[in-house]
Amino acid sequence: MSQLEWTSVETGPLTGTIVVPGDKSVSHRAIMLAALADGVSRIDGFLEGEDTRATAAAFAGMGVRIQTPSPSTRIVHGVGLHGLQAPAASIDCGNAGTGMRLLAGLLAGQHFDSVLVGDASLSRRPMGRVIDPLARMGARIDAEPGGLPPLRIRGGALRGMRHALPVASAQVKSALLLAGLYADGETEVREIHPTRDYSERMLAAFGWPIAFGEGWARLSGGHRLRATDVRVPADFSSAAFFLVAASLVPGSDLVLSAVGLNPRRTGLLTALRLMGADIVEQDRREQGGELVADLRVRHAPLHGVDLPPALVPDMIDEFPALFVAAAAAQGTTRISGAAELRVKESDRLAAMARGLEALGIAVTERPDGADIEGGAIGAGRVDSRGDHRIAMSFAVAGLVAGGPVRIADCANVATSFPGFLELANGCGFALSAQAADQR
Ligand code: S3P
Repeated sequence: MSQLEWTSVETGPLTGTIVVPGDKSVSHRAIMLAALADGVSRIDGFLEGEDTRATAAAFAGMGVRIQTPSPSTRIVHGVGLHGLQAPAASIDCGNAGTGMRLLAGLLAGQHFDSVLVGDASLSRRPMGRVIDPLARMGARIDAEPGGLPPLRIRGGALRGMRHALPVASAQVKSALLLAGLYADGETEVREIHPTRDYSERMLAAFGWPIAFGEGWARLSGGHRLRATDVRVPADFSSAAFFLVAASLVPGSDLVLSAVGLNPRRTGLLTALRLMGADIVEQDRREQGGELVADLRVRHAPLHGVDLPPALVPDMIDEFPALFVAAAAAQGTTRISGAAELRVKESDRLAAMARGLEALGIAVTERPDGADIEGGAIGAGRVDSRGDHRIAMSFAVAGLVAGGPVRIADCANVATSFPGFLELANGCGFALSAQAADQR
């Protein structure tokens, strides 16, 4: 079978105003809560990516009517908290860790059994982190050895619990809160580091009584969700590639419109500014309960930094892009405290280290991080390992490389950023796609 390969080459400045697609985390949660609500909810700015479409399909398969009047809009006819029907087949979460982990929590308390499956990448990702705390609430979930998918969930009664989470994970926190909707009594989650709070905020917006603050959340079962309209902000994680690209390419002056700036997502903004980036937030405003702003990014020479480990959870998806910024910066960038990167869609520490080395950059990989020596990025061929964010990051590297950067296995970019190639080329990239066997 032929694979999709990209070639990215050096071009002139990146300019104009672009709108990146809707936030993936918010889109998943909006479908889930709207499906369980009483009444009809409208979701605008929905991410029309493979991950979030898989979540919508999961609920359609459990009897929820979902209309698509336009690609970025969903009208969800909620069935109420106890209105889901048993799915006729296994639920395919595709590439989406968020889909699978949140669904595991939500399905554990249903009156039916279900099976969650995923693609090759998702089938290698650890699920013990949700299975174990859910089991303490009474959930019955069987996995493959090592806690790997598929997950076989026997729905049943749950009891509220206090959880102290050993890893900083919004997915685990959210799975437990969703299970808590069905549990008897109070469910409380405490985190070792605060993570994105979209589940908490959206539960409140759908009328569920919930108390939460930095690093903790508490709710009780036995309430109802009320339909509400959701406006999804543009995804900061998708904006990240353009923030780095325009910082690196001389002469660039690019505006990214209405990007979500939830503080638990914007660690890369802090990191890039520490490295000398010129990024200005224009017209900060609230949109659908989330802070958004237009981000204006202009070229600036970057220098290496020792990344403060406290920033890691707030930029957990942005490390592939940061690696490229570090490779093009002057001096060394040191990353530590980031072992979680090894269990993302790929082992992102290894994928970025090997890829940058193939382009002539010296990288010292460590179990929880890496040292990246900034230098001249050369031409070469890199493997995205089927990881959307690795593919897009090396497309950015190509902009400042001494020759073409060829990137293998790019089809999964559609999981989070459909239309990346067209949008990127529209603001100045020179990115082409070809079938790998036609090289
Ligand atoms: C997400 C949480 C993060 C992030 C993922 C989306 C979410 O994962 O990497 O892309 O929507 O809750 P972890 O919870 O594993 O850190």
